[in-house]
Amino acid sequence: MTIKEAMKERHMVRKYTDKEIQEDLVLKLNEIIEQNNKKYNLSIKLMLNNDKAVNCIIKLLLAKGVKNYIILAGNESDNLAELLGYSSADIMLYAQTLGLNTWYVGGTFNRGVSKYVPDKRVIGIVAVGYGINNGIPHKSKAIEEVSNYDGNIPNWFKEGVEASLLAPTALNKQDYKIIGKGNKVKIEINNGIFTGANKGLIKYHFELGAGKDNFEWK
Ligand SMILES: Cc1cc2nc3c(=O)[nH]c(=O)nc-3n(C[C@H](O)[C@H](O)[C@H](O)COP(=O)(O)O)c2cc1C
Repeated sequence: MTIKEAMKERHMVRKYTDKEIQEDLVLKLNEIIEQNNKKYNLSIKLMLNNDKAVNCIIKLLLAKGVKNYIILAGNESDNLAELLGYSSADIMLYAQTLGLNTWYVGGTFNRGVSKYVPDKRVIGIVAVGYGINNGIPHKSKAIEEVSNYDGNIPNWFKEGVEASLLAPTALNKQDYKIIGKGNKVKIEINNGIFTGANKGLIKYHFELGAGKDNFEWK
């Protein structure tokens, strides 16, 4: 499975089997995490066999078997959440190509996990493992609802917006607008505390669909 194919296969999975993540896959996950940490100066961390990711209520109501997760952390800065959102997309889609499922949790995670990344800001976690199923596609808005292009819409723009609609967003709101003119593209978004993370996730998906060489972010 390619990363592009993984965009279509990835869906939120909150319930996991007991199966341990294979050792070679753990190495691969740590590699991609390290790559992202180096590239963007982040402190993302994989936790294995640790059941502290989500709190009791969530465990009781929604989740099951979450024992492996990725802490999204870094040094406080204006664009930390966007960088972590962007990197989380890279990691989640890669995990999908390895046959793993994921779940981005930006609200209802256990803040206590911060102790595993001392002095860093944590914006959320991504649960990872073998899901009891592969999840289902989220309800999606139409291309016209989330985008606007000045003039004849080029194919790359359409494919970018289509890809953006596959991205996870908080509460699946898809509350953003991708604006294009010539080869310049910008994202307008305001989702309160989730703005940065959502923006990073959408950017990553748009780039994958549109092809980075076809446009520039404004
Ligand atoms: C920034 C962000 C925060 C999220 N926070 C939570 C959360 O607190 N609890 C939860 O159950 N899901 C959370 N999610 C998961 C979304 O509800 C889910 O990704 C969305 O419904 C789209 O579904 P999909 O992941 O299958 O595409 C969050 C997702 C994002 C991107």
